[in-house]
Amino acid sequence: MSSVQWGALIQGDESYAGSRSFYRFRDVVADLTGFTHIIPTHQGRAVERILFHTTLKSGDIVPNNTHFDTTRTNIEAEGAEALDLVIAEGRIPSLVHPFKGNVDFDQLLSERGHHVPLVMVTITNNSGGGQPVSLENFRGVRALCDKYDKPLFLDA
Ligand SMILES: Cc1ncc(COP(=O)(O)O)c(C=O)c1O
Repeated sequence: MSSVQWGALIQGDESYAGSRSFYRFRDVVADLTGFTHIIPTHQGRAVERILFHTTLKSGDIVPNNTHFDTTRTNIEAEGAEALDLVIAEGRIPSLVHPFKGNVDFDQLLSERGHHVPLVMVTITNNSGGGQPVSLENFRGVRALCDKYDKPLFLDA
């Protein structure tokens, strides 16, 4: 990190309410994502807990390239299934492939889509060796989610 970044970290206002840092954070995230609702949490696993507890029920299926261990645990804690659907090449460490984090959700959504309340992609695919996902593949997921009317969550 640069000296400016370290300086900003040390000067960060972490007060419980009305923190200046929150508004800077919110504005930057809104600019990058276009999202209206931005909820900071202290860790990814806390996000997962909130998200899955409010969206999943027992018997649901959540596809991903490879679920991170905390992600899987939070899904399974709701009685749902965390399904890893990375492409076959992504499971062969010795194979050279530029995007071993790519996914294939077509069959799941066409055959069992009624059990899928939401779709996830982890970029990079950390539990699969930190492998990347191609934009082409990710745009395909977006199109599939639009076709089947599924919300898409990016674990980034
Ligand atoms: C892909 C992914 N998802 C979720 C998490 C959980 O985040 P946290 O460690 O902030 O709880 C991690 C942590 O490394 C991660 O790599």
